[in-house]
Amino acid sequence: MLYSSAASWLTLTIVSTAIATLPAIDTEKLSVSRRWLLGDDKIRGVNLGSLFIVEEWFAKDEWASMGCKGFYDEWSCVESLGQEAADAAFEGHWKSWITEDDIAQIASYGLNTIRIPVGFWIKEDLVQSDEYYPRGGLKYLDHVVGWAGDAGLYVIIDLHGGPGSQSPNEEFTGHSTANPGFFTVANYERANQFLEWMTERIHTNDAYRTVGMIEVINEPIKRRVNATDADDMLKNFYPAAWNRIRDRESELGIAKEDMLHILYMGSNWGSGHPETYLNDTTYLYFDDHVYWKFDTRSGKNKTSYINATCSLYRPESNVVVGEFSLSVASDLQNTDEFGIQGHPENVAWYTDYFAAQVSIYEKSGGWIFWNWKCNWINQFNDWRWCYKTAVEAGAIPKNASKAASLSPC
Ligand SMILES: *[C@@H]1O[C@H](CO)[C@@H](O)[C@H](O)[C@H]1NC(C)=O
Ligand SMILES: *[C@@H]1O[C@H](CO)[C@@H](O)[C@H](O)[C@H]1NC(C)=O
Ligand SMILES: *[C@@H]1O[C@H](CO)[C@@H](O)[C@H](O)[C@H]1NC(C)=O
Ligand SMILES: *[C@@H]1O[C@H](CO)[C@@H](O)[C@H](O)[C@H]1NC(C)=O
Ligand SMILES: *[C@@H]1O[C@H](CO)[C@@H](O)[C@H](O)[C@H]1NC(C)=O
Repeated sequence: MLYSSAASWLTLTIVSTAIATLPAIDTEKLSVSRRWLLGDDKIRGVNLGSLFIVEEWFAKDEWASMGCKGFYDEWSCVESLGQEAADAAFEGHWKSWITEDDIAQIASYGLNTIRIPVGFWIKEDLVQSDEYYPRGGLKYLDHVVGWAGDAGLYVIIDLHGGPGSQSPNEEFTGHSTANPGFFTVANYERANQFLEWMTERIHTNDAYRTVGMIEVINEPIKRRVNATDADDMLKNFYPAAWNRIRDRESELGIAKEDMLHILYMGSNWGSGHPETYLNDTTYLYFDDHVYWKFDTRSGKNKTSYINATCSLYRPESNVVVGEFSLSVASDLQNTDEFGIQGHPENVAWYTDYFAAQVSIYEKSGGWIFWNWKCNWINQFNDWRWCYKTAVEAGAIPKNASKAASLSPC
């Protein structure tokens, strides 16, 4: 189902309704196969956002309890607290934000996947003396992937914060800066060192036994923001990242069927067609982030939202929608029609909105909700961003694999 060449993208003007069939599981090889554990199923998952890169906007209470209140990103909090105090504060967070109970609960909801956003600084020797990132996270990543392995969850490790920052003014990079510095030979090299190190860890550390996919970089700069940077990345980072991952696998003697899937933001993201300079597309997958909240085509009422969700988007082949939510436009989210505080009558509509979305995303590789957990957004726990709370509220069905069948589309 992979496009055989970049040229085939050009003819793909509308959308493919083809259903990507994921490779079948070979149970005999489970103990050594790290590539794919889902059989023919779709990816149904949640993000573990704000674990290794805390984003204050959806973790306000947590951030304050870490002593980071008033700081926009991890960098500024670490710089202010000082390294040792920051390391202690972050360790408290890593220990408690996601526990083994969370992982068990995720599995109990019929979800089969977690995507784990991490910063390059989890490999501490890549951090320069003039940079400010917390230390000590790796041990907790080992714990989380180990629990996921025990629960049979498929894991995607996502390089979410790149060296120098890959997008302007974004706390998700760990360091918000107007002039993102990712797009240099030196920072591509640091990212590639991260990727080949993580590739080796995945293949050689048993805790990582169900990690099947690695994402080379999350949400890099869009061409409309800086085409020079985006084009440079496409040409110089993307193929190098591919080669470094595959070269390390080949040094380790990894069999073809055990090689990692490699995930790139797809062309829909706006940084270009990621495969343009790739010589190989074996186990190449594309990430797309779909937020109707920010898409004016979703209109202003419940009908228009469902209508847009059902009719305006079709994932291309081999796409995993790696982020989406139940949020609606900021000017609508607290109205009588869309509000969720004091409006129990609106919950059923959010179930429709969820089911509509996942039914579309399951036409390709599947979906991963943003986020599993959050606390204190806009003065309350807004479950339109938090899967765990949305299930408790009755908005997201308890059994994720049934959700698509409830779709109003
Ligand atoms: C794009 O980024 C480069 C640095 O990589 C910078 O020199 C250039 O001014 C930027 N262009 C725009 C339009 O911001
Ligand atoms: C892709 O193949 C071409 C032709 O063999 C070669 O010149 C180029 O260096 C290769 N690119 C990468 C990134 O391996
Ligand atoms: C909802 O919005 C659409 C336009 O986006 C409009 O055509 C339709 O009449 C509206 N429906 C209601 C019930 O207001
Ligand atoms: C539904 O979507 C179609 C296609 O965008 C649009 O033409 C139509 O006006 C929409 N209807 C409503 C009620 O929003
Ligand atoms: C969830 O739904 C799927 C598909 O309908 C079904 O096979 C499975 O048994 C259900 N799981 C639970 C725990 O009810």
